[in-house]
Amino acid sequence: MSRKTRLLAQKRDCPIVPFMNNPAAKHLTDIAPLTAEAINAILDRAASFADKIEDGRDCGTPLTGKRILSLFFEDSTRTRASFEMAARELGAQWFNFDIAHSSVKKGETLLDTVKTLAAIVRPDALIIRHRESGTPDFIAAHVSFPVINAGDGTNEHPTQALLDALTIRRGKGAIAGLTIAICGDIAHSRVARSNMLLLTRLGARVHVIAPPALMPETLPVPDIAQFTSMEDGLPGCDIVMMLRLQKERMEASAIPSESDYFKSYGLTMERLALAKPDALVMHPGPMNRSVEIADDVADHPTRSLILKQVTNGVPARMAVIDFLLKE
Ligand code: CP
Repeated sequence: MSRKTRLLAQKRDCPIVPFMNNPAAKHLTDIAPLTAEAINAILDRAASFADKIEDGRDCGTPLTGKRILSLFFEDSTRTRASFEMAARELGAQWFNFDIAHSSVKKGETLLDTVKTLAAIVRPDALIIRHRESGTPDFIAAHVSFPVINAGDGTNEHPTQALLDALTIRRGKGAIAGLTIAICGDIAHSRVARSNMLLLTRLGARVHVIAPPALMPETLPVPDIAQFTSMEDGLPGCDIVMMLRLQKERMEASAIPSESDYFKSYGLTMERLALAKPDALVMHPGPMNRSVEIADDVADHPTRSLILKQVTNGVPARMAVIDFLLKE
């Protein structure tokens, strides 16, 4: 930990996760402000929880009596379910509301909705997903409890990057020194953005591979190699991370057709053979089979980490909640 980070942490009584915006609470809204030391501390705690869960050992219930409010303004399967599992594993109470049928539809502002539900639940933390980038930081600036970003627009999905890093560490032993390809709809992907930040901070080389229409004008970190073909970008890679086509965020013309996209950018066993012989495959989900990834790659018994990513979402999110509520 650098001297500056240590002093900041001491001043704010928080050893690991920096405060964001609001001195009354600590939050995880982005990977961007986290040091490598902070990320590794979260991953170490996540790995310890993962080992205990795998061995059937008790994780304890250190957050008994804590209350967690969950507000998903966008659909989710993996993130919402694994945050709920994580909260319950730690002994916390979980409150999730059906926002699709809330008074947001009657013109209530987002902040009023959050404050209203917080007045009912009296949460110790809020987990929020929203289509607008920056929403978790905005809410964090107005509330006195920790806010955890479960995905905001095209900005960040920090706990996805943490669970991906945990999965890579468990699959390859370490992250530093690996070459990791992130492939597909880079322009609209908050998963890609959080992973570019996290993986480079932990010492990985990152290749991004996308058609020109799905490559952003700027990337969040320098020193990322950009490729417009899988054939150029995959050689030498230890991990091939595929991305979902975020059609809800793209113009109709961004890709010619799904079948053409699959022909050029879909991950088949033939394309995977361009990477290192022991390269492993990831996808944050939800995946579109035969568009982003072939069935035999997605379901490969030794090369695909996709279900392991889902499983690791629980201990990764336990570690984040534990740090924010206990420290
Ligand atoms: N990876 C991810 O965020 O999946 P969900 O949309 O199902 O939560």
